[in-house]
Amino acid sequence: MTKALDGVRILDFTHVQSGPTCTQLLAWFGADVIKIERPGEGDITRGQLRDVPNADSLYFTMLNGNKRSLTLDTKNRKGREILEELVKICDVMVENFAPGTLDRMGFTWERIQTLNPHIILASIKGFGPGPFEDYKVYENIAQCAGGAASTTGFDDGPPLVTGAQIGDSGTGLHLALGIVTALYQRTKTGRGQKVLAAMQDGVLNLCRVKLRDQQRLAHGPLTEYPQYPDGVFGDAVPRAGNASGGGQPGWILKCKGWETDPNAYIYFITQAPVWKSICEVIGKPEWITDPDYATPKARLPRLKHIFSVIEEWTMTKTKYEVMEIVTKYDIPCGPILSMKEIAEDQSLRATGTLVEVDHPARGKYLTVGNPIKLSDSPSEVRRSPLLGEHNDEILRDVLKFDDRQVHEAHNSGALGSTSAVAAE
Ligand code: COA
Repeated sequence: MTKALDGVRILDFTHVQSGPTCTQLLAWFGADVIKIERPGEGDITRGQLRDVPNADSLYFTMLNGNKRSLTLDTKNRKGREILEELVKICDVMVENFAPGTLDRMGFTWERIQTLNPHIILASIKGFGPGPFEDYKVYENIAQCAGGAASTTGFDDGPPLVTGAQIGDSGTGLHLALGIVTALYQRTKTGRGQKVLAAMQDGVLNLCRVKLRDQQRLAHGPLTEYPQYPDGVFGDAVPRAGNASGGGQPGWILKCKGWETDPNAYIYFITQAPVWKSICEVIGKPEWITDPDYATPKARLPRLKHIFSVIEEWTMTKTKYEVMEIVTKYDIPCGPILSMKEIAEDQSLRATGTLVEVDHPARGKYLTVGNPIKLSDSPSEVRRSPLLGEHNDEILRDVLKFDDRQVHEAHNSGALGSTSAVAAE
């Protein structure tokens, strides 16, 4: 069966997390992703957080599946020549270098367009044009600058970053959408274009409900926030603890075993249409008609009390027992799942969201497969490449080099040979 992006060739000049997230997605959809890596070390994540000696780390392997690896020293003359040849035949070049790095390598947008007017140049930077545009950025900086940290955590504590990598992986997702959109437009215009996804912008996009609340704040207190009705609202959106970001109040409640299990909790939503069922399930039928509890508006100033009463009930059951009961009544709830529980979840494995792959140096490892399922473009998840594993294959099959040219490339030191003669 063909894949959605069959025939699309990606020159993957990405490293660390944000860019590799994007190109791994494109690879799952069928694109031929050629990852360019610095000879010797490769993507810095190959050696970061290493758990198995001499094997690529999980940091690397879980972000670079389905790709081919070519080592190329772009500070070597022959290395730059090979890169130029690749630019000429690729559909997309993706990079997430620090600002100015690609230009310093000699690959300005103008030069890239001269080499290939059809190419799409997709970049991730920390910030868009503005006062911070030259700054280097990592995940948590983006979370802070994009509004996530100031709105995460509890009112009486400091700003918090989240475990979800919304700065890196989130921006990689945004860039992937930009790339396929530009590819689609190219089918009509024939032209390439630049695609920029700034990490601050990506995080802000994911935080848009908080910008919504910032504007609502001008018209009075945020009645679904835990600060209402007793706390004080300042002039900026406060941290909302575990309150729901939408119009249906929710909170995280303890379940049986919470004293020893840090994840014995459930997210409980008091959705208005099932309020009657909630009252019956928790043993508070009188709340159904009590004017202090009967309507969503009446409940808002009493949410803390309401959740404490519901918690008295959830604490008598495990989170899975609560789930089983509330499901019968259509009450929206979700268990707090630990990474251990997720790793052992058979249904996620059955759908291909969790996949075990075999690696020649580290053996089997678990990875997150393609979370986006296309009915006509199956994703098979393949292991990440070893450093420079596909050097000759790419020179011969993609660039059509003959034996002499392959030999020349090796001798030049461009691929990492110690007999570098053309380095500048
Ligand atoms: N051959 C030779 N040199 C190479 C190379 C190759 N194949 N690949 C990279 N390099 C060189 C670059 O030319 C650059 O050299 P220069 O500084 O002399 O111009 C050098 O490696 C460093 O590259 P850079 O991307 O600037 O890495 P860094 O370690 O200084 O910064 C980041 C890392 C992530 C902070 C930075 O890349 C960045 O801000 N990226 C954009 C935002 C982003 O994606 N952040 C999230 C990462 S998960």
